[in-house]
Amino acid sequence: MHLIVTSLRHVFSTKFDEQPTIFRSPGRINIIGEHTDYNDGFVLPAAIDKAVYIAIAPRKDTIISLFAVAYNKSFEINLEDIAITKRGWPNYILGVVHELQQRGHLPGGFNMVIDADLPVGAGLSSSAAIECAAVFALNEIFSMQLSKMEMIHIAQKAEHTFAGVMCGIMDQFASMFGRKGFVMKLDCRSMEYEYVPFDTMGMKILMLNTNVKHTLASTEYNVRREECQKGLSWVQEKYPEVKALRDVTEQMLNEDVKPRDKVIDSRCRFIVQEIQRLQLACIDLLNKDMESVGKKMLATHSGLQHLYGVSCKELDYLVDAVKDHPGVLGARMMGGGFGGCTINLVKEKYVDEIISLLEKKYEADMKLPLTAFTVEIENGTEKIQ
Ligand code: GLA
Repeated sequence: MHLIVTSLRHVFSTKFDEQPTIFRSPGRINIIGEHTDYNDGFVLPAAIDKAVYIAIAPRKDTIISLFAVAYNKSFEINLEDIAITKRGWPNYILGVVHELQQRGHLPGGFNMVIDADLPVGAGLSSSAAIECAAVFALNEIFSMQLSKMEMIHIAQKAEHTFAGVMCGIMDQFASMFGRKGFVMKLDCRSMEYEYVPFDTMGMKILMLNTNVKHTLASTEYNVRREECQKGLSWVQEKYPEVKALRDVTEQMLNEDVKPRDKVIDSRCRFIVQEIQRLQLACIDLLNKDMESVGKKMLATHSGLQHLYGVSCKELDYLVDAVKDHPGVLGARMMGGGFGGCTINLVKEKYVDEIISLLEKKYEADMKLPLTAFTVEIENGTEKIQ
């Protein structure tokens, strides 16, 4: 962290000839509870020690001047002209600015440099991390007095409108509210949450990045949302009190969805099962029964693969390759799907062995490099200096 902050400060002062304020906004993992957030369900994420860092200072005019270290690219726009750009990466910031403008908060112009040690497109929510960094930093430097809850909704809306992904609230929530050593059980209906201690008990959280960029993810993600909505509407014909898949039982699916469409049924069935699985996993966590949490992670993977249809051959390969290893308690694909990382609960002494077992085999079989790294659970979005 210190290296990246020092270099960010240096790049900023060289480019803009002034001293910035620096903010850190982390990526996230999710232990269990995938695709449940937009169905009013629960999720169990945590912020991690890989993050986006921004250096920022207000300007006296209405220009926004951005520089992305990773791409070595600059972007400038006037506050009055904010619109989606074909350039890609500035959209996450512009989306946040747009949402602030829509709500009557009109920040002045600013200079910003962005860097990260969080891989992009790996399913660790780099986009939510950038959005949260931007809204948190702008709130701070322009004294807007927004609450963290308001900020995450602004960040989520930015993703909807400027990145075109109709995401739920999990990623922005986790990035903003993360706390070192804890996972968060978030009720995505009421937005109530509790911090659940995550005692690693000699385990490491190992991420295995397939290096498949999840380009399919945004379109298929929106399709899954529609499929859930369709199944829900069929259940609601008979049970109008049902508001979301959160309120649906497998019995209701048997009656009203399965006979009409097998695919819609399996999508909805996964969500109903996943919400139950998460509740049970929370009890496991309180009992420090990591074996049982691990088994549920494997069940989640199987559901995401066979019922929800958001896995891919590389993710399945990595889960299959480790699931019977004595050092592995649990493994599954994580996040939206179609690429990115698997999350693995691994006994510490086996981590290196597993990585070296897999690297060559994965490369040979999948024709892609494997990137493996462990993560620690860290605090959420914060001002550093
Ligand atoms: C993406 C979305 C989240 C969530 C996950 C799947 O990360 O941004 O809102 O739906 O996929 O659990």
